[in-house]
Amino acid sequence: MSNDSLLRALAREPTSHTPVWLMRQAGRYLPEYNATRARAGSFLALAKSPAFATEVTLQPLERFALDAAILFSDILTVPDAMGLGLYFAQGEGPRFERPLRDEAAIRALAAPDPSDRLRYVLDAVREIRKALAGRVPLIGFSGSPFTLACYMVEGSGSDDWRALKTMLYARPELLHRILEVNARAVTDYLNAQIEAGVQVVMIFDTWGGQLNHADYEEFSLAYSRRVIAALTRESGGRRVPSILFTKGGGVWLEAIAASGCDAVGVDWTVDLAAARARVGARVALQGNLDPAALFAPPERVRAHVRRVLDAFGSAPGHIFNLGHGIAPTTPVESVAALVDEVRAYSAKLRAKAQTKT
Ligand code: CP3
Repeated sequence: MSNDSLLRALAREPTSHTPVWLMRQAGRYLPEYNATRARAGSFLALAKSPAFATEVTLQPLERFALDAAILFSDILTVPDAMGLGLYFAQGEGPRFERPLRDEAAIRALAAPDPSDRLRYVLDAVREIRKALAGRVPLIGFSGSPFTLACYMVEGSGSDDWRALKTMLYARPELLHRILEVNARAVTDYLNAQIEAGVQVVMIFDTWGGQLNHADYEEFSLAYSRRVIAALTRESGGRRVPSILFTKGGGVWLEAIAASGCDAVGVDWTVDLAAARARVGARVALQGNLDPAALFAPPERVRAHVRRVLDAFGSAPGHIFNLGHGIAPTTPVESVAALVDEVRAYSAKLRAKAQTKT
């Protein structure tokens, strides 16, 4: 592979610069993404076509010196494959036609065979790997069992997750039954992605941070841990590292770091210096610039990037990213400034550390 800095950082090995990629790096802030989406007809048509998915996965890499590609898809393809009927209402975000609201539907829920109902994702992985031709590693992903359950029960995104939390507090055994099925589905799905060629896997636990302390362990982390323990460890003679991102998970950093993952994704509420002190060299850390910082002029963006890099320091094991997905109205020049500054300043930090020793 011509650029394996991401894999090296995930293994806490030294790299010449801090590797950088961005959550939602392929998306609506890029005019070429919007053009391809218009040609495909809709977001779902785009995601379900391996040729279009390959095209948009590579778009950000043509513009910026990114150190990884991330499969273009969505976490909600899994519940869609379980028969919940994913759709996007105009300007309203994702919705399900058949959310899980009664016991019969929950009892009938089953993990899908990824080689059948999610074949288009696996075809996209194979096509993207070919198109990348070893330039950078390809990251595959899934939602966590808990975050998928949030959408499956609620039927859409939510500010308070009232349907989900009602089930959690009133009928916890029903939620556990959904989470059991989801853990199986996520494990099979990620292992199928690994078999198709992804070189890193990431689990997005976007809503785990909405839970109380004890419930985070019981309903979210326990199931992610189970998935991680059952992942294929090696493919093509290389370790396949896993990243667990929990938005709002900073308070549980030690527990997340002990989940078996190779790296912990952190949002911007976390101080990277303190985080490193808490987890040591047990795991790599990924993050954590506030995506809203990209609304500042390029020189300010660069200063905020340096602050994140300074907080972690020059030791191995940092992957630069945002603390959550990039916003659709982000200026392209801000992203260019971010990527350029990560490369230049992190190389300088390492040089400075070396002259000291
Ligand atoms: O990071 C990448 O570039 C890979 C692609 C990716 C998408 N969604 C594409 C997408 C990834 C990794 C996701 C993950 C995802 N999807 C998460 C977890 C990460 C996070 O952001 O918290 C969640 C919660 C979802 C569910 C989802 N999908 C929502 C809430 C939305 C609507 C929000 C929005 O930005 O409009 C989607 C749609 C979606 N998924 C889009 C993209 C590029 C926008 C759709 C469009 O083009 O209209």
